[in-house]
Amino acid sequence: MDAIHQRRSVRNYTSKAVDEAAIRTLLDAAVHAPTAMHQEPWSFAVIQDRNLLDRLSDCAKKQVQDEAQVSDSAKSQHKLHLVNNPEFHVFHNAGTLIVIYGKFTGPFVEADCWLAAENLLLAACAQGLGTCVIGFAVSALNTAEWKEELGIPAEMTAIAPIIVGEPAGETPPTSRKPPAILIWK
Ligand SMILES: Cc1cc2nc3c(=O)[nH]c(=O)nc-3n(C[C@H](O)[C@H](O)[C@H](O)COP(=O)(O)O)c2cc1C
Repeated sequence: MDAIHQRRSVRNYTSKAVDEAAIRTLLDAAVHAPTAMHQEPWSFAVIQDRNLLDRLSDCAKKQVQDEAQVSDSAKSQHKLHLVNNPEFHVFHNAGTLIVIYGKFTGPFVEADCWLAAENLLLAACAQGLGTCVIGFAVSALNTAEWKEELGIPAEMTAIAPIIVGEPAGETPPTSRKPPAILIWK
């Protein structure tokens, strides 16, 4: 419960690199998630190369711009406002990006990968590391160009991109509505 309540989406990081042992601990936490039919349908990419992260951020911003231009919903306009800012980095300048890929398609592959993601987020929090899921990066990661550049097999799907790093300062808690209990018989 401590990790559940203390976890924040952190968007401000120090320049300190996350070491390999810490990343392996996070991956170990991820693969201990429950998995439908015990299929373990996940694979991971760890990206710490700054140049790659910057280029991927630029591509993700371009994708969001293209997608937002064909929709005038309030959410799209908010996204457009963010990505039109040249200072905005989709990875919030974190030094590590872990991407959870579904190895194949199937009815519970996404569920399994998100369960692995939550394990990873909570394990990181318990180790004093900050994380944030970066949905902004999903479209770019699933382009043929980026799969080829990163050496990801074409049949795999990027599901959960997660940045990891040492938090720079405190992140205030966000609020939650109480659980909406529909029935309790
Ligand atoms: C599927 C998903 C996609 C998200 N994408 C982004 C994103 O692209 N950029 C970002 O800064 N935060 C992103 N977030 C983080 C949410 O904004 C955050 O979880 C929410 O505001 C609640 O804040 P908390 O995680 O600190 O409780 C994403 C979260 C989820 C679950």
